[in-house]
Amino acid sequence: MHGALEAGERVLLIDPKERRYLLTLMSGATFHTHAGVLTHDDIIGGDEGRMITGSTGRQFLVLRPTLSDIVLKMPRGAQVIYPKDLGAILIAADIGPGQRVLEAGVGSGALSMTVLRAGATVVGYELRSDFAERARANVTATLGPDMPYRIEIRDVTEGIDEVGLDRILLDMPEPHKVIPAAATSLRPGGILLAYLPTINQTALLRQALDDAGVPFGLSETQEIMRRTWHVEARSVRPDHRMVGHTGFLTTARRLSA
Ligand SMILES: C[S@@+](CC[C@H](N)C(=O)[O-])C[C@H]1O[C@@H](n2cnc3c(N)ncnc32)[C@H](O)[C@@H]1O
Repeated sequence: MHGALEAGERVLLIDPKERRYLLTLMSGATFHTHAGVLTHDDIIGGDEGRMITGSTGRQFLVLRPTLSDIVLKMPRGAQVIYPKDLGAILIAADIGPGQRVLEAGVGSGALSMTVLRAGATVVGYELRSDFAERARANVTATLGPDMPYRIEIRDVTEGIDEVGLDRILLDMPEPHKVIPAAATSLRPGGILLAYLPTINQTALLRQALDDAGVPFGLSETQEIMRRTWHVEARSVRPDHRMVGHTGFLTTARRLSA
């Protein structure tokens, strides 16, 4: 998307205190914030990157949101994977156009939209139908209704129907229980990636990968640290606050048995 902003598009507003708001533009609508009321019609038809003045005289920066902005601001049911990890997952699992990816569970759809935007086809397995609907709505709002995306309401630990998969991405509590099914559903050379909040779960997964023997190799676990910096002329230093921990990424290659 580029050019003038249109009704129906989502925009990101940033207020003078750097608070961020995601909204969908509608003719005749108003948006109420702590820093004043904004009229959508003042935004529609203009370029992004502009400052808009609200009712209290304060200014808001208007931009089209990045995928990272959307993930952090979109409605969520389940906890999303954070952008720093989403970026790393694309490289660690080597996600690319035309791949067939199985994802479980889909949660709020943050990983789904990241993988779909990279050009892959996604089949999602999800236990909860309300989360599946939320993920579907988030993907449609971000990428449109025609994405190659299907969600099935089912438990991934009870088996995987797809075969010849390029990638399996797991963000659910017991990925170690999925290893036998993953061994038959991934094509040789395919990649399994699991995202886990604790090292205990990660150790169970690594043990299951080791126990599976020949079908899996090159197992690797990593975590991503992101530290932002405060940069002003006479004060250049790391920011005081950072997110200390999100999750561990574990990858393994499916080998030829
Ligand atoms: C943390 S959320 C996933 C968030 C998602 N990766 C995102 O970025 O938005 C974990 C999801 O896994 C689902 N889940 C848990 N166990 C599952 C299983 N055995 N099979 C399928 N889905 C499962 C949960 O219902 C939940 O929606």
